[in-house]
Amino acid sequence: MNIRVTKTTHPMELTPSDKLGFGIHYTDHMFIMDYSDEKGWYDPRIIPFQNISLSPAACVFHYGAEVFEGLKAYRRPDGGVQLFRPWDNMERLKNSCIRMGLPVVPPEDALEAVKALVKVDERFVPSEPGTSLYIRPFLFGTDAKLGLHGVHEAMFIVVLSPVGSYFDNGMEPVKIIVETEDVRAVRGGTGEAKCGGNYGASNRAGERAFANGYSQVLWLDGVEHKYVEEGGGMNVVFKIGGKIVTPMLTGSILPGITRRSCLQLLRGRPPRSASSRWTSCLRRRRTAHWRRPCASVPPRSSAPSAS
Ligand SMILES: Cc1ncc(COP(=O)(O)O)c(C=O)c1O
Repeated sequence: MNIRVTKTTHPMELTPSDKLGFGIHYTDHMFIMDYSDEKGWYDPRIIPFQNISLSPAACVFHYGAEVFEGLKAYRRPDGGVQLFRPWDNMERLKNSCIRMGLPVVPPEDALEAVKALVKVDERFVPSEPGTSLYIRPFLFGTDAKLGLHGVHEAMFIVVLSPVGSYFDNGMEPVKIIVETEDVRAVRGGTGEAKCGGNYGASNRAGERAFANGYSQVLWLDGVEHKYVEEGGGMNVVFKIGGKIVTPMLTGSILPGITRRSCLQLLRGRPPRSASSRWTSCLRRRRTAHWRRPCASVPPRSSAPSAS
């Protein structure tokens, strides 16, 4: 991609690390690129962070035509900057686009955009323990038509936010509540896509949880309200009887990159390529009985079972 860069003439002041919070502060620049069926993705550019202008009829506002990603850049002890498995996020973005019928940004272009933006705003990557630069790529339909239709025009944007801990109590354990009324997603729905609608549907239960002093909801399955799925913003892993277990990827939960990394570490296996992982996840979904709720990780000495 040939990314046009327009630098800000009003650089922001850096926020002290202890005042960062999560997703409150932004950086000097953003990446933006447009799509139309005729032109494909065009005009990739890095511009000063600013508001965008959209038609009130844009389909993102009415029919939830949106997907996003979330990943982080970390300051290394040697002063360099490290992204954590960004390719996996770009592949997941692609899969989310496919599920939601949105135009796909080629993962290599999405990654190039992320890297270019992080480089331009590198001074915002904090270095205190527990801090990082949160990267939010997102993509949405902009067709200004109220009739229900596929997406033919879109925008892809990346913004950055220097962050501290997501939860107020930092790395301390968080209190979660099992949600028994609302469900987040069902098989065949959009649970495995990272789309705004999944989170919109979660808000009511999330607010109930906050009001009662909990940090997050633990979702149960959408059919029997019985089998553990995932947390409001995280996958879950349990240690039961010396075994590590986690719900299988059967289509209703987000295939978390942290989840996969933990399983790889526990099994002591090197990572496979992102695309083969996704294929095997889809294959599993077709064959696995979803009531068998867990991917178990036996002790390293015994043979690994399927996840
Ligand atoms: C619903 C949900 N599940 C799981 C995760 C964890 O995903 P990852 O490990 O890729 O960050 C997230 C992250 O935002 C999430 O929102």
